[in-house]
Amino acid sequence: MTGPDEAVEALLHEQRQFRPSKEFSDQANATTKTYEDAASDPEAWWAEQARTLEWDTPFTTTLEWDLPHAKWFSDGTLNASVNCIDRHVASGQGDKVAFHWVGEPENDRVTITYADLLVRVSQAAHALESLGVQEGDRVAIYLPMIPEAVVAMLACARIGAPHSVIFGGFSAEALSDRILDADARFVITADGGFRRGEISPLKPAVDEALKKCPDVHHVLVVQRTGQEVSWKEGRDVWWHDIVDSQETTHSPKSFPAEHPLYIMYTSGTTASPKGIFHTTGGYLTHTSTTHRLVFDVKPKTDVCWTAADIGWVTGHSYIVYGPLANGVTSVMYEGTPDAGGRDRWWRIIEEYGVTILYTAPTAIRTFMKWGEEHPQAHDLSSLRLLGSVGEPINPEAWIWYRTHIGSDTCPVVDTWWQTETGGIMITPLPGVTATKPGAAMVPFPGISVDVVDNEGHSVPDGHGGLLVLTRPWPGMLRGIWGDEERFRETYWSRFEGMYFAGDGAKRDEEGDLWLLGRVDDVMNISGHRLSTAEVEHALVGHPSVAEAAVVGASDDTTGQAIVAFVTLKMSGEVAQGDEAGLIQELRNHVGEVISPIAKPRQIILTPDLPKTRSGKIMRRLLRDVAEHRSLGDVTTLTDPAVVSMIDDLMAEHANDDD
Ligand code: PRX
Repeated sequence: MTGPDEAVEALLHEQRQFRPSKEFSDQANATTKTYEDAASDPEAWWAEQARTLEWDTPFTTTLEWDLPHAKWFSDGTLNASVNCIDRHVASGQGDKVAFHWVGEPENDRVTITYADLLVRVSQAAHALESLGVQEGDRVAIYLPMIPEAVVAMLACARIGAPHSVIFGGFSAEALSDRILDADARFVITADGGFRRGEISPLKPAVDEALKKCPDVHHVLVVQRTGQEVSWKEGRDVWWHDIVDSQETTHSPKSFPAEHPLYIMYTSGTTASPKGIFHTTGGYLTHTSTTHRLVFDVKPKTDVCWTAADIGWVTGHSYIVYGPLANGVTSVMYEGTPDAGGRDRWWRIIEEYGVTILYTAPTAIRTFMKWGEEHPQAHDLSSLRLLGSVGEPINPEAWIWYRTHIGSDTCPVVDTWWQTETGGIMITPLPGVTATKPGAAMVPFPGISVDVVDNEGHSVPDGHGGLLVLTRPWPGMLRGIWGDEERFRETYWSRFEGMYFAGDGAKRDEEGDLWLLGRVDDVMNISGHRLSTAEVEHALVGHPSVAEAAVVGASDDTTGQAIVAFVTLKMSGEVAQGDEAGLIQELRNHVGEVISPIAKPRQIILTPDLPKTRSGKIMRRLLRDVAEHRSLGDVTTLTDPAVVSMIDDLMAEHANDDD
């Protein structure tokens, strides 16, 4: 990474704080009173936010809390897709743009108004019903970043069928695991998508995955690239054949606030992913309120761009549900940041007058590496607010973002949250909260956070500890799909009465919060969550591998990168020259079993792994080795020599990184 320049050094040295910007203070959606109101009666405050939605039956109860189960607004009924579309059309906003969609190939773009979206979602809802999808049925969605992904999600929501969107980068095996776990009987996919200037197929992965999923009745296939696909008569249906001819109006049904809206799989500390599920009323309240206040949204003039994939929770909450519930215009981009040149994003911002950009630190660090000349070549003066999400943002990246993208005037909001939280939990509010480069600052109004020691006691200012959430919140996960025990165990067993987030955090001398990364065996690679166990499981599935230990080592660009230590079944038999070939084969194997994002940056073949006397792999030591730190106490090891041997192997392979 390019080192901080002198100006950045000076800012860091000063420990600079950015006072709330005046432009925001004058006209902000939120004021200091927002915090006061929310603190004095959080439930009443959330209920007030919930009333900004359109309810078919108004709720009379706000929170029912039977730890760890929360219900919000449970006697109210509503329809999520009506809240995201119909009500805006009904209030005269039909001609307003919902999405400026930009495909990866140049000049491949579509503008969709709220009225267009209503027609498309109504037709898709009819199509799903005609295929037999009923209220409560799970529908798996495996699509590229195309408008049909949003349409499919909202059509499912409209008919009360929870969707389970699976990131298009996942392999066939990851896909079948998720389809089976959710017991989804319907899949929506495409022939393929455009990625890095090439056509990347999707349908073959679905065909492969469905060999293991005999209960899937129908696969709805969007034609995106026009490539040849294999076809199973009776099961596969083209989207354009069945959707385009449907009626353009659809009467929505009303669902209870606690009706499941979606399942989103995410990595936990074991090899099998967890199906985090969210319900309707609380989730919509949380995402629309956070979107409105954190981004100071002005629906008439703002153009929001959440540069994330719809296959992750950021896309669900801040491309689809939050912005649409608020009736704003968004940009949605299909491709990679350098497709068509390293200035692609800045061209998009200039062309559409994007006012709010929300992305991950990995992207910012990549742009830093590519150099300022790319953003400088474009007029980015429409931008007024910048957001960051997904991983800890280092102060250098924060300042670069504000200086080179935000012309040193845009507030930067670093937002901490998780798939499980549904929406933003810790963040500054522009115009109200000061910001510090690298800090997520304070809990969102109505959210209660603490930093505790191992015994669950609050740590004083100036100290670090574990992040916990101490009160239920509207967007909270309602469980892990089909696994109540794991839900209790993962989040609610570490500290009594508190949600354990799995992150470390520090409270600085002024009481502001700094997120420090995961404290469990979950890695964060470019903002993607992966468990060490998942990658180890993939590695030991290869016929040559006896044992594998995986750690997340810090990486200048991707935050963390995967380093794997592998012992072979017949280690003596790999000749020196064949090692490189085998390592490449193992990397590809992980890519095929999970996803290319899970390919280890480095694989070290070693005759042995360091273990404690009780046989546990000492991952902490391996992390030290992977990060070239001096090794701590190794006295509990069965054979301390193993560590220094691995250390030597690492030094030997120091230049193997891609
Ligand atoms: O470790 C935290 C990190 O991402 C984890 C949640 O990942 P996921 O469920 O995939 O959701 C990502 C998008 C919300 C958290 O446990 N994380 C997320 N945001 C931040 C962060 N770490 C530091 N700072 C953040 N702003």
